[in-house]
Amino acid sequence: MRVKVSRKAHFNAAHRLYRPDWSFDKNEAIFGKCNNPKFHGHNYDLIVSVTGEIDPGTGYVMDMKVLKDLIKNEVEETMDHKNLNLDVPEFEELNPTAENIAVVIWNRLRPHIKSDNDLEVVLYETPRNFVTYSG
Ligand code: NI
Repeated sequence: MRVKVSRKAHFNAAHRLYRPDWSFDKNEAIFGKCNNPKFHGHNYDLIVSVTGEIDPGTGYVMDMKVLKDLIKNEVEETMDHKNLNLDVPEFEELNPTAENIAVVIWNRLRPHIKSDNDLEVVLYETPRNFVTYSG
């Protein structure tokens, strides 16, 4: 019996979407307001889900306290109240779009999740725009 358990989290972060190898006009055309050289912020909502067998001993798929601490250590401490472009090493040369942030979060969490469990990351950049990455 495989069950999906989920934990919600939240962080605020600033970013700028641009490519240094493109002209300002091209960046403006592709990324619009997100190309603001002075950066801008989002209130990101995150849903991390783990799917796996229920452990017959504990009745858990995963201890939610462990998942909570994992999100705190791997995501909130590196991204909350940070400038994603400047403060998070993964975005030194990678545009911090919602897509790429979801992949970075998944890559950070995956090594800490039991290998026979599936991991899914849903990231809301705005209440209406969200992306999903499952590896
Ligand atoms: Ni933005």
